[in-house]
Amino acid sequence: MDDFVDEVRWLFEAPLELRQLMLMSGVLGEEYKEKLQSSDISMLPSYQHTLPTGKEKGDFLALDVGGSTLRIALVRLAGEEPGVDKLQTKRIRTFAIDRVIRDLQGREFFDWMADRIAETLTYNNRTHSTQNAKLPMGLAWSFPIEQTSQRSGRILAMGKGFRALQGVEGQDLTTLIMTSCQRKNLNVTLKAIVNDSSATLLAQAYLDPRTRISLILGTGTNSAIYLPTSLLGRSKLLSRPAQWTETPPPHLVINTEMSMFGGRTLPQTRWDKILNSTHPLPDFQPLEYKSTGRYLGEIVRLILLEASESTAFFSQTFPPSLLDPYTLETTTLAAFEADSSHDLHIASAVFQASHPLLKGLCPSVADLRLVRTVSRFVTTRAAAFIACALHALWKLRTEAEGLGFERECEARVTVACNGGVVEKFPGFRRRVQGVLDGLCGVSCGGDGDAGRRNWDGEGGPGGEGVGMIELKIATGESCVSGAGVAVACADAEG
Ligand code: BGC
Repeated sequence: MDDFVDEVRWLFEAPLELRQLMLMSGVLGEEYKEKLQSSDISMLPSYQHTLPTGKEKGDFLALDVGGSTLRIALVRLAGEEPGVDKLQTKRIRTFAIDRVIRDLQGREFFDWMADRIAETLTYNNRTHSTQNAKLPMGLAWSFPIEQTSQRSGRILAMGKGFRALQGVEGQDLTTLIMTSCQRKNLNVTLKAIVNDSSATLLAQAYLDPRTRISLILGTGTNSAIYLPTSLLGRSKLLSRPAQWTETPPPHLVINTEMSMFGGRTLPQTRWDKILNSTHPLPDFQPLEYKSTGRYLGEIVRLILLEASESTAFFSQTFPPSLLDPYTLETTTLAAFEADSSHDLHIASAVFQASHPLLKGLCPSVADLRLVRTVSRFVTTRAAAFIACALHALWKLRTEAEGLGFERECEARVTVACNGGVVEKFPGFRRRVQGVLDGLCGVSCGGDGDAGRRNWDGEGGPGGEGVGMIELKIATGESCVSGAGVAVACADAEG
């Protein structure tokens, strides 16, 4: 049994040495540069060439289509009005996106969305108010889109088990949504579409002017970044009006689609290989398959399954429900991470509620500890890989802007974070921050020690890289409120 645990430990921990992570970050940086030159699925430029000033005002209907929920809210931007919250997200309604909804194809999915919008308008007494001006609407979309204007974009490949793309690939997302809304006679007009990573960046930048990068880490992962346009290859702006290629704006918000990177450098264990080869889109999102809410539980499940077959763990007691793929939820792992009791009885109750053993048996304390140990290996590696991906982005920006790597300089940025894993998984954000501090420490000429201390949870006295990147949970419902900010920015453009 110990041999098995030692092997898993080695496979997951060996690549996490700071020197190794630095190398991975270097390769990721090269991959980013290549895809900024040419790729039609990642490093996708938006039309957003300035960050919000914080003065924008207005009321908007905002939608956030996430991996497991659709959120609809009224968003109010109060600008610099004294005494009121600058960014208000009101009357938010959340609709679960379960397997049945994920299976809806093409128009069916957009009709389902329109029904939920109708429901929300009825709830807010705003239905079919044809005598009024149309309600301006913004959309945060948690999948790649090729933007064709602030308010339109071609729908691209969708991960996370969604089938909405079937039959409509490459079509205009605004037309698809508006056609469904018009069929229901809804008095709304879609004025801005943004990827959810850009929405979070815009929402937090509206409140905190040091925000330059976002991190989404929930069901999926992604990052948007405000970068000099000079980093983009010609082909990236070719389909835009002439002024974009003749006098491009100095900066743009780029949806990196970070989840799709890492295929060349992130090491794979045999369990990652099983996950990848049985996935409907193998190799599509190497980073995502190792780090997000949709996959962390599955990697742990695959390891536990092997343990039950080849060691004395779970002998005769492997929960039958865990034989099926994707049955171990990341929230169950979080319960193990949060339980500091000696016998893990709190986590055990959570585990057994979803995964009862046969004949009323209970898992042994050794089995429960195995779940926690394996979960720690898998989530610690995930945090380190996410940190590598962010460090590579930060370095790219710092170099492209011609900034120095010293402390107290403009290279310091806030990363606006959103998503269940980074917000709620015990210790996850602290681990990402610790590795980032270590990596930035090395970039700033140190040995990365301070970060390593933070990573180990002891807290460091501060070091070269500490504070260069600050991971901050974005305020409020940043994806949905960011969709509102995007409409305000589009309005300001005229
Ligand atoms: C999608 C991105 C999205 C991210 C976070 C990824 O799977 O490709 O577009 O931003 O998940 O929701």
